Amino acid sequence: MSIALVILAAGKGTRMESDIPKVLHKIGGAPLLHHAMLSASALEPDRTIVVTGHGAELVEAAALDFDADVIAVRQDEQLGTAHAVLQAQDALDEFNGDVIVLYGDTPFISTETLEAMLAARASHDVVVLGFDAADPGRYGRLIMDGTALLRIVEYKDAKDEDRAVKLCNSGVICAASSTLLSLLAEVGNDNAAGEYYLTDIIGLANARGLKATAVTCDEAETLGINSRLELASAEATFQTNKRRALIEDGVMMQAPDTVFLSFDTIIGRDAEIEPNVIFAPGVTIESGARIRAFCHLEGAHVSRGSTVGPFARLRPGAELAEHVHIGNFVEIKNAQIDEGAKVNHLSYVGDAEIGARSNIGAGTITCNYDGVMKHRTIIGRDSFIGSNTMLVAPVTVGHESMTATATVVTKNVPDGAMAIARTEQTNKDGFARKLFSMLRAKKAKQVKG
Ligand code: UD1
Ligand code: CA
Repeated sequence: MSIALVILAAGKGTRMESDIPKVLHKIGGAPLLHHAMLSASALEPDRTIVVTGHGAELVEAAALDFDADVIAVRQDEQLGTAHAVLQAQDALDEFNGDVIVLYGDTPFISTETLEAMLAARASHDVVVLGFDAADPGRYGRLIMDGTALLRIVEYKDAKDEDRAVKLCNSGVICAASSTLLSLLAEVGNDNAAGEYYLTDIIGLANARGLKATAVTCDEAETLGINSRLELASAEATFQTNKRRALIEDGVMMQAPDTVFLSFDTIIGRDAEIEPNVIFAPGVTIESGARIRAFCHLEGAHVSRGSTVGPFARLRPGAELAEHVHIGNFVEIKNAQIDEGAKVNHLSYVGDAEIGARSNIGAGTITCNYDGVMKHRTIIGRDSFIGSNTMLVAPVTVGHESMTATATVVTKNVPDGAMAIARTEQTNKDGFARKLFSMLRAKKAKQVKG
C-alpha cells in the first residue's frame, strides 16, 4: 500500500508570542516540523506534502531541508483544517494510496501508532487517532458506538453530553486519497467557528455508509505545542525519553538529568557520559568513549577509547580517531585528530590535521584566521608541539618533529626537525633585588604623602 503524508503547518501559533513560525521552534535541536515528519518517514511515504501559510517561506525551507522531495503547498487564508488538507488536492493527483494527515506542531506521534492506524484501515474506510484525555478541555470529542466512530464534535459546537466524552481527537486521520478528497469536497463551514472542519468528514462518511473507527494511543504522544510553556515541557519530555533510550541501550550516565541531547545524538554501548554535558545536533560517540563533565559537543565524532574533557568544546567537523585525548579547556573545530594523539590543556585546534600519537602542548593555538580567510595547519605523526606554540596557518609540521615552547611557527617544519622561534634569554645579575627595593621605596613614599 502506498502512502502520502499531508502535514498541516499553516497556522499562526499566536500563543507562542514569537516572530518565528510555530513549527520551526525546536525540540532536541530540530524543528517541531522535523519531529512530525521523522516518525512518519519510517513508513516510507511516496509523497510528503506540507501545507504552509504563516511564515510559508521559512517553513517550506525547513521542510525541504528535511527531505528535498517534499511538496510544499500554500494555504493563503487559514479557513480550517479541512480547507488546509484540500490545498494538497493537486499534489495528490494520480495518487491512489492512503493519505495520513498529521499536524506540524504535534511532534511525538510514534511510528508504531501510525502503523496501528494503517492496520485498522484494512477493515475501515477512515481511521482517526484518538486518546483518552485526563483533561479533555477544548479537544474535539470522538462519538463512538462500539468500535464504530460516528462523528467528531468540536468543543465549540458540543452539547453538554458530548463534552462529557473523554475520548478526544488527536487530529491524525487516515483514509484512501480518493475517499478523503471526495469527503472534503462536501465539508461546509456552518459551525460555531465558521471554519471548514476536517473532523466533519467522519459524519459525512457515516452518512455515505462508509466505516470509520478510532485507534487510540497514549495522551503523551498526541501532545501539541501551542505556547512557550508547552514547548519547554515538551523539551523536558523529549530529553527524558532520549536519555532513557540511550541508557537502556547501554550508555552510562551518572546524572542523566544534567545531560542534554539532540534528536540525532548517537552514543554507543559502554560509552560514559559524565554530568553536565550538552550534545548539540550531529554528534556520534562510539562505544567505550568517555565524555567527561561540562563538555559541549556539536557536529563531532568521537571514536572508541577516546576521552574528551572535562570542560572541552568540540565544534562541527571535529573528528577524533581512536584513543585520542582531548583535555580541559580545549576547543577543536573542523579538525582531524588521528589515533592516539593528545591535546590535553588549554588549546585551540581549528582547520587542522594532527597525526597519530602527536602531543600538543598546553596553550597551543592554530592561528587559522587572518581576518578574512581560514587556513589549514597540518601536523604529522609522532610529533611534539611545545607548550604555547602559535601555528600560523597555512603551515605544515612534519612527522617526528618538535617545536620549542612558545615558538611562533610561520614556516613549514621538515620531518624530524625542531623549530625554535623565540628571543634568546638573558639574565641580569642582581637586577631583581635592585628593582624590588626601588619599587618598595616608591610605594612607601606614596603611602606617607
Ligand atoms: C483540531 C481539531 C480537534 C482536535 C485538535 C487536536 C479540527 C476542526 N479540530 O483543533 O478536533 O482535538 O486539533 O489538537 O480539525 N491548520 C492549518 N490551516 C488551517 C487550520 C489549522 O494548517 O486553516 C493547522 C494548524 O497549523 C495546526 C493544525 O492544523 O497544526 C490544527 O489546527 P488548530 O487550529 O490548532 O486546531 P484545533 O482547534 O486545535
Ligand atoms: Ca491546536
